[in-house]
Amino acid sequence: MTCSHVTLAELVASAELHHPDKFFTLGLSTGSTPLGCYQKLIESYKNRDLSFKYVKTFNVDEYVGLRDHPESYHSFMWNNFKHTDIHSENTHILDGNAADLQAERDTFEEKIKVAGGMELFLRGIGPAQHIAFNQLGSSLVSRTRVKMLAMDTILANARFLDGDLAKVPTVALTVGVGAVIDAGEVMTLVTGAHKAFVLYKAIKEGVNHSGPCLHTQCV
Ligand code: PGA
Repeated sequence: MTCSHVTLAELVASAELHHPDKFFTLGLSTGSTPLGCYQKLIESYKNRDLSFKYVKTFNVDEYVGLRDHPESYHSFMWNNFKHTDIHSENTHILDGNAADLQAERDTFEEKIKVAGGMELFLRGIGPAQHIAFNQLGSSLVSRTRVKMLAMDTILANARFLDGDLAKVPTVALTVGVGAVIDAGEVMTLVTGAHKAFVLYKAIKEGVNHSGPCLHTQCV
């Protein structure tokens, strides 16, 4: 299992060939896993090997109530991609501070639809098998929605918030598994011995809602 940044960079670079009518649309995740990939993409941009001018990004989840916090997914993505030439109007991140979360969900779904769906969905997997904040039992046809976080998701993410469970929001917005299934391609990144079981299940077991990581082929 590798993080094929070369392939990803090639895909992003191909967006320049699409312009100006068609953007390359990326679904992006947070967490520690994709950081190496993001660094490679930023390096490629700095070396002038690729541009993000014709790239649209959709972030797949966000905590509710944490938007301006340094550990919000807003902050995470912006801290990474501000180093590129992506236009801020082409970056889409769910607003977990929206007054009306249902409306935020609907608007986000509509934006994905208008963009023509995600061509590449780049994702990690949580040790508890969540993808974005789709946890065990999430429906294969689920769409963007508000989710209560399960204790194992909170436990996995507490390390970003001083290891303090009380600081981890208990509610989040997340795209659904349906968005993953609809994506043109899915790049799944798995690193670390603690994810060995998740990887085993992804490779050995079939598609079912008892493990969101199983919904696509890992690369
Ligand atoms: P991690 O998170 O990369 O920090 O392990 C994975 C995820 O939650 O998708």
